[in-house]
Amino acid sequence: MERQINKIGILTSGGDAPGMNAAIRAVVRTALYYDLEVVGIRRGYEGAINGEFLEMDRKSVANIIQRGGTILKTARSAAFQTTEGRKKAYEQIKSQGIDALVVIGGDGTFTGAKIFGEEFDLPIIGLPGTIDNDLYGTDFTIGYDTAINTAVDAVDKIRDTAESHDRVFIIEVMGRDCGLIALRSGIGVGAEAILIPETKTDVPHLLHRLEVGRKDKSSKIIMVAEGGEGAFKLGEIIKEKFPHYDTRVSVLGHIQRGGKPTCMDRVLASRLGVAAVEGLLEGRKAVMAGLIHGQVEFTPLDHAIKHNKDVNQSLLKIVEILSL
Ligand code: F6P
Repeated sequence: MERQINKIGILTSGGDAPGMNAAIRAVVRTALYYDLEVVGIRRGYEGAINGEFLEMDRKSVANIIQRGGTILKTARSAAFQTTEGRKKAYEQIKSQGIDALVVIGGDGTFTGAKIFGEEFDLPIIGLPGTIDNDLYGTDFTIGYDTAINTAVDAVDKIRDTAESHDRVFIIEVMGRDCGLIALRSGIGVGAEAILIPETKTDVPHLLHRLEVGRKDKSSKIIMVAEGGEGAFKLGEIIKEKFPHYDTRVSVLGHIQRGGKPTCMDRVLASRLGVAAVEGLLEGRKAVMAGLIHGQVEFTPLDHAIKHNKDVNQSLLKIVEILSL
């Protein structure tokens, strides 16, 4: 292994995601395994600017693999989007003797990392930490599996009450501009319909399906991704067209971001955390470590953020076949 790095900085940035702690643990322990020092940076890029550093050892990441959130805390930093802010962050990082960074987050985090790494010639490796699963170059992002399981648990409960009252529920899940949480959790709960931004929500098609669909069903669940057709607007449209339906809207919100990570997220975070440190030692920079078809691969940061994952058409077809 090529060896030029002695001290790694690690931070989490953007929206938190279950499994970030497992990733922090893996990065810290892998760095120590290879006799590197590790410095934690609190509150993402904001903490880098303000000099919020802490030395990390094996014990500092003990008993966190199972915890949601991020022990390093996170933030969305407006200051880091300015040249001035990034300069301050670099001066702080340099004063700590940090030679390379591992950043855990999503597209905003990687956009910042790419510019920062280029401006100051700093090796940076990204780990995909977001519930949205909206990064190219990894089958799944850290936190996605937990979020969809949380959504499934919540919607199963809504199904109980929907069934008791013979109601139609429109349920909005997170995902910013990406419908992958809605798609998988929707299939998992046996939703009657799933509306996602990628397929240009076809409201007339949904209304038609509701019209011609089975009349003996007592409850219907319509999953809607945020960023597409608004759930409340859709609720109004459905109420107007089908006044006899007892319709309710439920927005699951930030519950999807918390909780214990699933085993799948813990293993993913552990594998990618090891890969990030080994990647830095191999001389990689400006890349994201991800799993493609189950194997660790490195994808340039700008590729990971600029290319949307294709929505698996066969999953959409499943909904058409199994619903209504
Ligand atoms: O990117 C993760 C995410 O939870 C998105 O799904 C959502 O649109 C956004 O963050 C919400 O951000 P905030 O927590 O800042 O309201």
